[in-house]
Formats: sequence, structure tokens, C-alpha cells
Amino acid sequence: MPEYQLKIWMRKSAGHRDYLMHLDLQSWCSLRMQTCKDLTIVDLLKSTNNFNQSNIIGCGGFGLVYKADLPNGLKAAIKRLSGDCGQMEREFQAEVEALSRAQHKNLVSLQGYCRYGNDRLLIYSYMENGSLDYWLHERVDGSSFLRWDTRLKIAQGAAHGLAYLHKEPNIIHRDIKTSNILLDDRFEAHLADFGLSRLLCPYDTHVTTDLVGTLGYIPPEYSQTLTATFRGDVYSFGVVLLELLTGKRPVEVCKGRNCRDLVAWVFQKKSEKGEEEIFDSSIRDRDWEKQLMEVLGIACKCIDQDPRRRPSIDEVVSWLDEIEIGKT
Ligand SMILES: Nc1ncnc2c1ncn2[C@@H]1O[C@H](COP(=O)(O)OP(=O)(O)O)[C@@H](O)[C@H]1O
Ligand SMILES: [Mg+2]
Repeated sequence: MPEYQLKIWMRKSAGHRDYLMHLDLQSWCSLRMQTCKDLTIVDLLKSTNNFNQSNIIGCGGFGLVYKADLPNGLKAAIKRLSGDCGQMEREFQAEVEALSRAQHKNLVSLQGYCRYGNDRLLIYSYMENGSLDYWLHERVDGSSFLRWDTRLKIAQGAAHGLAYLHKEPNIIHRDIKTSNILLDDRFEAHLADFGLSRLLCPYDTHVTTDLVGTLGYIPPEYSQTLTATFRGDVYSFGVVLLELLTGKRPVEVCKGRNCRDLVAWVFQKKSEKGEEEIFDSSIRDRDWEKQLMEVLGIACKCIDQDPRRRPSIDEVVSWLDEIEIGKT
């Protein structure tokens, strides 16, 4: 097996524009391998035990995510996109483009990337606590473990990450959901998965799109307009807020006729003045009642069926930041 050396391009300028000049997506390349400068593909294979099943930490549309123990002792997550189809290539390029422009403490950071045969590898810093989806919905007893103050901190962090994305590099994420919010060892939120993201030119406000995203998070207007917008991301973020408040999935697949859509269920409870029933029983607490109601109010603004009435993510950030963690 040839021993490729990862080419290193260290960040020289703070301006993200400089990056793209160095991106040559046709060739084997990498960027910002800050954590481990002399990494080779053999190191990558070793660090994942040859992409061993036991190293798998996630799976998604186009491939698997592996945990890697790098030679310098640090951990990384490696997304391995395999196959030969154009859509996979587009996802790879979208992710590299978005993450090489976008750097923020609430976004997952891309440490390097390369092509290896038919595979595309994306190397990220490792998020010790996995995804928010895992903590809310997968982990046995998970929801009772995530206290309200932790949930609020996650909401604030994710909102900051999205606000940065919308403003600085002008990127619509298009797939905001709990499995794309990753948590580090201190439960700080980092947005991930930019495979569907789209970069907008400075004065554009939307991008035409195939209907993409994930059931339960797709804003209602997308089915008619086929247009992704910043306000569309705000809708999906509102659904994430509802998940944090209720501990429920956006769409619960149940037997028979009782299939529940979270947005409709919350609106129904509100109209019946049954707000208290909305909240996850493990965070229902007198001390937090006011904060829960405030966040519910913000969530409901985000999921307004009319995109023109939804707030911008900047407004959401300032409302969420006004709620002080630990204060009631
Ligand atoms: N940097 C990371 N650290 C830890 N886990 C990760 C990391 N990146 C991804 N994962 C895990 O893999 C899953 C899928 O990753 P994601 O980037 O969302 O790709 P996909 O396009 O396959 O959905 C995540 O939900 C998470 O559980
Ligand atoms: Mg994902």
C-alpha cells in the first residue's frame, strides 16, 4: 500500500476567503492538520484498526463515522464516504467547502480530509459525548440525565453556531437536527454534518433545492417553494428546542392511527392551555418553570408556519442568552 503523506496547509490568515484558493478538490489533499502534522494514511488506518466495526461511532446517509486514536495520543472522528455516486461527491465537497470557511467554537472542526481510492475521508476533532439525539432519545435513562441547565446551554451554543453560519460565511445548513448537534466533554454544542449545506452569494437570500432535510424538521413551505432559506434553518432549530423541552422525537412512529407529529402536538397542547404537559417530566420543576415557558415561547416563534413571521437566528440568540443558566 502506498504511504501517502498528508499535505499540510497551515492557516496563515484569519480571513476565510484565503482558504478556497488552496482547495484542490480534484486531487488528494488535506487542510489544517493542526492536531497531528505528520499523519499518513497508514496512521489513519492503524488508528481505526483498519476501519474496524468496533470503532464505528455513527452512521449516516453516505458512510460511517469511526473513532480514531491518533499516534500523538489525541482522538479524532473520521467520516468515511464510500461509493461512486455524484451525490456522495457533492456531500464531500459541500462539507469541505463549508467547514474550511467556517470556524467557530460551536461548529465541529474539520482537521483534515483526503481521497483514498474510492473513499473520501473527513477528519474531525472528536466529540466525547456524541450527539444530542443520543442523549435525548437513545440512551436508556438519557433524558433524565440531561438536566435543564445543560439543555439550555446546548440550545444557546447551537444557536450561536447557527447564527455565525448564517452571518459570516453565509451558509444555510439545511439539516439542523439533534443528531447533527455534537457534544464535547463539557456538553458544549457543536453543529456538524454540512453535507447538505449551501453557501450563498452575499446578496442572495435563498437557494433552490430538491426537497432535502429530515422528516419532522423540514419547514412546511419547502414542499411548495423547493427553496432553502435561513428562516428554514430557524424552523428546524425550533423543532430542536421542542425536543429539548419535551424529550420527544419530532415524529413518533406509532402503531395504528396515533402517529404523533411533535409540532402539531405542541400547538394543540398550547391551544388547550395544557402547557405543563408539554415538558419532559424529568425537567418539570417549579424553579425552572419560568425558563421552560420562555424557551417554549421562543420555540413557537421559530416554528411559525409562516416563514415571514419567524425570527432571525440572531434574535433567537439574544432571547436565549437573556435566560441565565442557573437563575430562575
Ligand atoms: N466529531 C465527532 N465526534 C464524535 N461523534 C461523531 C463526530 N462526527 C460524527 N459523529 C457521530 O456520527 C454520527 C453521524 O455523523 P454526521 O456528521 O451527522 O454524518 P451523516 O452525514 O452520516 O449523518 C453523528 O450523529 C455522531 O453520532
Ligand atoms: Mg448527520
